Amino acid sequence: MKVLVVGGGGREHALVWKLYQSPLVGQIIAAPGNPGIARYAECVPVGAGDIPGLIALARARGVDLTFVGPEAPLVNGLVDAFEREGLRVFGPGRQAAALEGSKAFAKDLMARHGIPTADYRVFEDVSAARAWIKNLGRPCVVKADGLAAGKGVMVAETTAEALAAVDKIMVEKSFGGAGSRVVIEERLSGEEVSILAFTDGKTVLPLLPAQDHKPVFDDDRGPNTGGMGAYAPAPVCTPTIYQRAVREILEPVVMALREEGIIYKGVLYAGLMVTSDGPKVLEFNVRFGDPEAQPLLVLLETDLVEVAQAVLEGRLADLTLSWREGAAVCVVLASKGYPGAYEKGAVIHGLDEAEKTGALVFHAGTARRDGQLVTAGGRVLGVTAVAATLPEAIREAYRAAELVDFAGKHFRRDIGRKALKA
Ligand code: AMP
Ligand code: GLY
Repeated sequence: MKVLVVGGGGREHALVWKLYQSPLVGQIIAAPGNPGIARYAECVPVGAGDIPGLIALARARGVDLTFVGPEAPLVNGLVDAFEREGLRVFGPGRQAAALEGSKAFAKDLMARHGIPTADYRVFEDVSAARAWIKNLGRPCVVKADGLAAGKGVMVAETTAEALAAVDKIMVEKSFGGAGSRVVIEERLSGEEVSILAFTDGKTVLPLLPAQDHKPVFDDDRGPNTGGMGAYAPAPVCTPTIYQRAVREILEPVVMALREEGIIYKGVLYAGLMVTSDGPKVLEFNVRFGDPEAQPLLVLLETDLVEVAQAVLEGRLADLTLSWREGAAVCVVLASKGYPGAYEKGAVIHGLDEAEKTGALVFHAGTARRDGQLVTAGGRVLGVTAVAATLPEAIREAYRAAELVDFAGKHFRRDIGRKALKA
């Protein structure tokens, strides 16, 4: 069959890499793809946000099944639009995607259905938000309601920081329309874990637990990014916590949506804090995480097309997932300045050497210019290694990461370290 992958980052490179191995897949088209994806797929210059353009592409090329990487087209109704045209697509519809598209929607749904998450308030009015923070007098977390590429969340130590965060979101409009509402939350503490699951709206089939590294610097310092690295499986998520997360969070939220008339199909990502009271939701995403997709897809043995077909046909209950033994680690190499304004156009060297170590180098923000590979995004590459144990996978990923070079390259040196302490 012919598959279309929408997007052009590291997650989409990992998706294409995985789909390429499926005996069910004859051809892969990526829109827009990237130079790494071009090795396995035909890249067509249609943007991931161009829903009519993607429909035209899928029709013209006789695409049998579409996978959507990023959240924005899901939140904007890509799946609904494809389905109206009779095109098969793996992902949640617009209403279900509001779980990520509006933090207020997600929090209210959790509150209505008793799903564990931090206490919160939603504000549309700046002065009301300010007054509430001043009155609170303890650390809180300030979040833009809408999509902000992982950067719209500010963990505030002090009242002044929380007030500044509200201004950044609601007054300076640093995240555009995403900041017309803010969610202010109780601050939770504990270890973070990401549990992704496939679901057909009835059955929830969880993937291995993974851990992301959102802050830009080692030891979780500095501003949040889209993710500077990830690994799986994450031992902080013990079998007990994993089961609780599935029973108390993932299954109930799919059921809650169903009770409200919304059938969730696709991948659901729960970002969790493992607190002394058990796992609580920090956020939901309605797609594969980036970079979590890289280690997870490298470890997944089951054919992704078979999973997608089972999801679309509502027979996920018949499927079990199989996994490679061992662990996988992805280290993100970022451009100078990221997650702020960053440089582009630096020539990238050493990819062949890095791949010769056996690591996979997924392209996140790269471009070809005059025959050379150059940086073109904040997150440039995701160097991913699999090994029998986590310490070995860490070593392998860093060995390869050191071999890649571009001006301004920076990366965290401690991806996976928390798991070693545990
Ligand atoms: P989010 O995009 O909502 O997952 O938030 C990004 C990051 O902010 C999370 O990975 C956490 O590190 C942190 N965070 C979000 N919400 C909370 C909370 N209620 N308490 C403590 N930290 C949080
Ligand atoms: N790595 C977190 C995310 O994909 O949102």
